[in-house]
Amino acid sequence: MTTRDLARRAATDLSTLLAAESRAGFAWQQRMWQIAACLSADATDDEALSAARSRFEAVYSRLAGFRLSPSADPSTHERLATLTARLHDLLHMPPVTLRRARAADAPRIATIWQAGWRDGHLGNVPDELIAARTPDSFRARAAGRVPDTTVVEVGGVVAGFVMVVADEVEQVYLDASFRGGGVADVLLTEGERLVAANGHETAWLAVVPGNARARRFYERSGWKDDGSFDYVATGIRVPCRRYIKPVAPAL
Ligand SMILES: CC(C)(COP(=O)(O)OP(=O)(O)OC[C@H]1O[C@@H](n2cnc3c(N)ncnc32)[C@H](O)[C@@H]1OP(=O)(O)O)[C@@H](O)C(=O)NCCC(=O)NCCS
Repeated sequence: MTTRDLARRAATDLSTLLAAESRAGFAWQQRMWQIAACLSADATDDEALSAARSRFEAVYSRLAGFRLSPSADPSTHERLATLTARLHDLLHMPPVTLRRARAADAPRIATIWQAGWRDGHLGNVPDELIAARTPDSFRARAAGRVPDTTVVEVGGVVAGFVMVVADEVEQVYLDASFRGGGVADVLLTEGERLVAANGHETAWLAVVPGNARARRFYERSGWKDDGSFDYVATGIRVPCRRYIKPVAPAL
């Protein structure tokens, strides 16, 4: 899934929300459709994003102070603000690209991995595992796992990575400064594609129960909680949730 696809989805979601929740719904639905149409057009990504950006700029300030119908609840207001910000960010984001990791990426991968691991796991895993996850351990694992790793670059900077082994999406990590903008969707979709390319129909991954942000992210992306199990990491049993998702067969 590319930035353009994500922006099209945000514009479509906005059109649905505005049609249902605003008195001037139809006019706003049309505006958002036009933006989505620019993003569906038979054009290069640059041309499509630039056309959508111009249309969006014309309505952005009005969307920011938009008045929904009086019956709209606070979560609808929140969703409008989130979708507007997401579409803005996606349309202004530098190019997002995927590529296989190279040996020279290992130090950057280790830095993102170590910081992200702490964000998702401190307080959520046995102390023994926290003690085992030293900076050296991340450096060694990042270097050793390069062949399993795909990185995502935003504007030429490595922003995150996904590791896939057979049918398991083993690691999905994004540098904190790039979170919340849709880049993680690009990574996870690539992980799913790689599982399908490995010949599997169902992908799985493990997540610790307390990692609420990651769980929310997976669930929003169509993954289902398939129950609890113990993941053995560095010889230590870690209670986890197993998530699964059917993946399209590779063509
Ligand atoms: C997991 C990760 C890749 C997701 O990427 P992201 O850019 O943060 O994901 P998004 O912001 O698109 O989605 C996160 C969702 O969780 C929600 N969220 C944010 N903080 C939350 C919290 N503390 N509790 C519950 N949900 C939370 C967000 O609102 C969003 O849901 P929404 O789209 O319905 O609003 C990224 O957060 C990360 O690298 N985390 C650290 C490493 C990690 O834990 N990896 C997974 C290991 S299994």
